[in-house]
Amino acid sequence: MRLGIISALAEEQHGLLEALQSPSRHFYGMREYTTGKLWEIDAVCVLSRIGKVAAAMTAAILVEKFGVTHIIFTGVAGSGDKNVNVGDIVVADTLIQHDFDASPLFPRFEIPLTGLSSFATDVALTERLAGAARQVTRVHRGLIASGDQFIGKLTQIQAMKADLPDLLAVEMEGAAVAQVCFELGIPFAVIRTISDNANDDAAVDFMHFIKTVASRYAFDVIHNFCKA
Ligand code: ADE
Repeated sequence: MRLGIISALAEEQHGLLEALQSPSRHFYGMREYTTGKLWEIDAVCVLSRIGKVAAAMTAAILVEKFGVTHIIFTGVAGSGDKNVNVGDIVVADTLIQHDFDASPLFPRFEIPLTGLSSFATDVALTERLAGAARQVTRVHRGLIASGDQFIGKLTQIQAMKADLPDLLAVEMEGAAVAQVCFELGIPFAVIRTISDNANDDAAVDFMHFIKTVASRYAFDVIHNFCKA
């Protein structure tokens, strides 16, 4: 296994770069890719920056230029369900691009010519990641929705939940990585710590949480994953 680990922001990968043994830094396409060993696993860590295009580009480069065989996205998300609380972890089983709408040419959410409106994560990778996360905090499994919008209004998240009743979390990259990995045949998983409730308080909660628990959880989960 050569594992690519993507996060949007530095806080979401806090401590991982320091844990990389024999690190080697490579600049490409306005990003820094750091290769090395993470607790015996051959790994490449990178920050994608925010959004679907940024994440898709990063995932494709990880595969095509750095030869990764598996990808994990680790970061924070807004809650998409009343039972999913700040500080909980959501591990994706499926991901959807909630802002994709080519109707009436194709059904809403469907990615044209794939015939799919959601992408499933790799079962083995997801099980291992969820097991690692359960040692850290409460874990939920299910649907994550991604789009190029920070969801910071109660009316926004309510409208999204009405369209996607199974929704557990919202973020801005996971489903883009999912599409790239699907198209390239790369097993992938997405794990998100809940930083806010995607409501009117979301921006303030996000700013607070990203600096505190998010960073520690990401490190602890990836540590447990690599040791498993
Ligand atoms: N990432 C963390 N919180 C989010 C939110 N409320 N909307 C989109 N992405 C997020």
